[in-house]
Amino acid sequence: MPGPSRRALARRLESLDDFAEPSAALEQYLTPPEIAAHVCHLASLQGDLERPVVDLGTGTGMLAIAAALAGADRAVGVDVDAGALALARENAARVGATDATGWIRGDVTRHPLSVGDATVLSNPPFGAQRGNRHADRAFLEAARELAVVSYTIHNEGSRSFVESFAADEGGEVTHAFRATFPIAKRFDFHAEAEATLEAEVFRIEWGDR
Ligand SMILES: C[S@@+](CC[C@H](N)C(=O)[O-])C[C@H]1O[C@@H](n2cnc3c(N)ncnc32)[C@H](O)[C@@H]1O
Repeated sequence: MPGPSRRALARRLESLDDFAEPSAALEQYLTPPEIAAHVCHLASLQGDLERPVVDLGTGTGMLAIAAALAGADRAVGVDVDAGALALARENAARVGATDATGWIRGDVTRHPLSVGDATVLSNPPFGAQRGNRHADRAFLEAARELAVVSYTIHNEGSRSFVESFAADEGGEVTHAFRATFPIAKRFDFHAEAEATLEAEVFRIEWGDR
């Protein structure tokens, strides 16, 4: 059965709650519903939701819930923050995605998971604003451990970094697109009340492990 249209998916995701008290250190900001819908609509078309789905740094649960609503039988969100996982669980209940989702507390940089061949979705901390360039590298390493295919969201200008990381690991970037994040001022280093963040989204097919 075909999944929901991208627009219908985005509309359902708009009802998810954002972080009430986001942690700057953990770079907690919502993945916009439009972008989550775009990623999961593409993943559905590619057959990538037929595998178990793992959302690394799930936060509000946005990407895991989007995957479940787009047709994944099982989507598990991992986050280091227990408060985020409680929010993700509530968000899943709000849109009727409780049965297809699960939530695990763990540090992604310590590779807490062992699942069969998975599809990984992730909007990791970028690290750019905190002088920790390529904080997303540890999330890519975890994706490479877990995934047959991954979709990851990175800072603008990450394409060559992501492509060479994938190539070094026997993988290949098959799709890439830009995404604009509207972000309200929430952390002290955001000078303006409303700002946008330019990001890039990549689909990677990983080679044999
Ligand atoms: C950009 S936010 C994720 C946004 C999420 N897709 C959403 O829409 O809510 C990054 C998330 O990664 C989590 N995180 C940061 N470092 C982590 C780590 N080492 N292990 C697991 N989760 C981590 C944060 O708590 C935060 O929820």
